[in-house]
Amino acid sequence: MSKIIDGKALSMSIKEDIKDKVSAAVSAGLRRPCLAVLIVGDNPASRSYVKGKVSAAEFVGIDSPLIELPESISNEELLAEVRRLNEDPSVDGILVQLPLPGHIDADAVLDAIAVSKDVDGFNPANVAALWLGRPCFVPCTPRGVISLIESTGVEISGKTAVVVGRSNIVGKPVAKLLLDRNATVTIAHSRTKDLASVTRQADILVAAVGCPGMISADMIKPGAVVIDVGINRTADGRLAGDVDYEGASEVAGYITPVPGGVGPMTIAMLMENTFESYSHSMVAPGLEEMS
Ligand code: GUN
Repeated sequence: MSKIIDGKALSMSIKEDIKDKVSAAVSAGLRRPCLAVLIVGDNPASRSYVKGKVSAAEFVGIDSPLIELPESISNEELLAEVRRLNEDPSVDGILVQLPLPGHIDADAVLDAIAVSKDVDGFNPANVAALWLGRPCFVPCTPRGVISLIESTGVEISGKTAVVVGRSNIVGKPVAKLLLDRNATVTIAHSRTKDLASVTRQADILVAAVGCPGMISADMIKPGAVVIDVGINRTADGRLAGDVDYEGASEVAGYITPVPGGVGPMTIAMLMENTFESYSHSMVAPGLEEMS
C-alpha cells in the first residue's frame, strides 16, 4: 500500500508561512501584496478555480481584486485592462484565468503581461528564462509537482522520470524542472507507442493528460512516486485524476490523491510567486517598470 502525499496539508503549511511573512511586512509598515485576478466570461470550472485562488489570497493576507469581464469583451479592451494593471505600482501579480473565449488572442494577452508580474509564468520571456536556467517565475502547477515529490524525501537526482502529457502549462515545464534536478526525463504523449512499457520504467511518474483513470496499476513500477495532475469531472459529478487511484495505490510507493494532491499546491505556489514578486518590488521599487 503506498503512502499518500498530502497536498492539502503541505499547501496549508506553505500558506501559513506566507501569511506570517505578509503579516511581518505589514507590521513593518509596508503595503500588502496584491494579486489581480482577471476572469473573462462564466466558464464554471474557471469560476471555481478563481474562487479558490481569491480565497487563498484572502487567507494569507494578499489583496486579490477580482476583475470580472464579460464574454463579449474585445481583444483590445482586455489588452488595455492588462496594460492598466502592468502600470499600477500597487499590483505585484497579474493572473488571467485560462481558457479565454475563442475570439480572444490568448497569446497576445499572455505576451502583454509584464514579465515582472507574470506570476503564472506563462509569458514567453518567463518560459525562455525557465528553459535557459535563468531567474524566472516558475509556473505554479509544475512548481507544486516538484514540491510534492521533494516532500517524500525521495531523491530526484539520477532517477528515471516519465511525464505523460506535453502541455505548455504542465508537461513541458515539469519535465524541465525534473531535468534541472538531474532526473533522466522522458515526455510521453498521445502518440507514444506502448505507453505502459515507458511508464513502467518510471521511478517518478507524473500524469498530466486530462483523461480520467488512464494510468492503471499495471503501468506503474512498484515503489514509484506517482503525481496525478489530472482534475477530471466524471459523468456522475465526481472529481477523478488521470491515475486509477485504487489500483495504483497498491503498487506505487507514494501517490497524490485527487482532490487534495496537486490542486491545492498550485494555489499555494501562486501565493509564493506573488509574494516573491512583492518582495522584489519592495527591495527595488521601480525596477519592475523596466521589464
Ligand atoms: N487554467 C488552468 N490552469 C491554469 C493556471 O495555472 N493558470 C491560469 N491562469 N489559468 C489556468
